[in-house]
Amino acid sequence: MRTEYSCKWGVGMDYVIVIQDVKKNYKKRKSNEIIEAVKGISLCIKKGEVVGLLGPNGAGKTTTIKMMCGLLLPNEGTVKINGIDIAKQRLKALRHISAVLEGNRNLYWRLTVRENMEYFSGNRGMSKKDISRKIDDLLQRLNLTHKANEMVNSLSRGMQQKLSIAIAILADTDIIFLDEPTLGLDIEISYEIRNLLKEIAKDYQKTILLSSHDMPVVQEICERVVIINEGRIVTDDSVSNLLSLFDTKAYSFITSSQLTQKDLFDIKKQFIVQTETDESGQSIITVTIRHSDDFYNVIDMLKEKKIVIEKIDRAIIDFEQVFMKIVKGEVENEAAVSV
Ligand SMILES: Nc1ncnc2c1ncn2[C@@H]1O[C@H](COP(=O)(O)OP(=O)(O)OP(=O)(O)O)[C@@H](O)[C@H]1O
Ligand SMILES: [Mg+2]
Repeated sequence: MRTEYSCKWGVGMDYVIVIQDVKKNYKKRKSNEIIEAVKGISLCIKKGEVVGLLGPNGAGKTTTIKMMCGLLLPNEGTVKINGIDIAKQRLKALRHISAVLEGNRNLYWRLTVRENMEYFSGNRGMSKKDISRKIDDLLQRLNLTHKANEMVNSLSRGMQQKLSIAIAILADTDIIFLDEPTLGLDIEISYEIRNLLKEIAKDYQKTILLSSHDMPVVQEICERVVIINEGRIVTDDSVSNLLSLFDTKAYSFITSSQLTQKDLFDIKKQFIVQTETDESGQSIITVTIRHSDDFYNVIDMLKEKKIVIEKIDRAIIDFEQVFMKIVKGEVENEAAVSV
């Protein structure tokens, strides 16, 4: 487990977020029991990076994000935003941050969509005309143009979420934190939000940290993922590295007939396999290859058992499966934390 301070993406980089050995405990109200929500997290994020913060329920994602945007003070450790210690110079640090947190939509209910956007646009030296153009552009990207003059309280939850994200963009900070931006939204709105985030990462050059259980969002938007489990970082790597780490190591063997229980038992004794039977009664054996010889050993074993292989495919693994393997500890720790 990594608790040491580690800027593993190169020394002397232009880091805009540096958190070091951060810990956070909560006290249960009734029993006074201490919950160690974050047990020591260190993380450095470069300017312009788009980072996904993943982990199972209760892993400490929201707590970490709240500490990063100054809503919670850590019990130990430091959070620095553009070199400014958030515990010491909170307001100065907060000028660089916008956040969209769950259940915390900083919207004015009795103002229209456009009025909200104008209000939050801030006055960072942009002319009224430029602001108006930027608002129009965002309304269009979010498919909200037809709602521009409607009150916020008449919008659906998904539309409110889109507006919250638009406002975080309009605030024009260098850093945006998003906690579960697509939680509970339907597929269409999740898709729109995913596209919007992808575009703003590219067009507006923001540094983005987002937590999500929505793996397609993470796989498409984030270059880098940090996976936390039980308050600690278990993996910090690029999405492409993690995918290739697993991708090359699993093969599916499709046999012409169904395997017997005995065959399955023998195969499972030697290899890490998942088996399934398709509709036509063929068996699909997916083998995780730990050593390069495994691939040939599987073939030899099937041959010995006179099982005909109809097809061999590289098992296509998506990010959801990678995540599950890491969180369940199905991958050697060394591989999971190496870059
Ligand atoms: N205000 C609180 N009081 C007491 N315990 C809390 C509080 N907030 C969070 N916790 C506990 O701290 C741990 C981490 O919670 P946190 O909300 O950070 O997890 P999370 O990774 O965001 O989970 P989820 O995926 O469900 O959103 C959990 O055990 C949770 O029960
Ligand atoms: Mg959470």
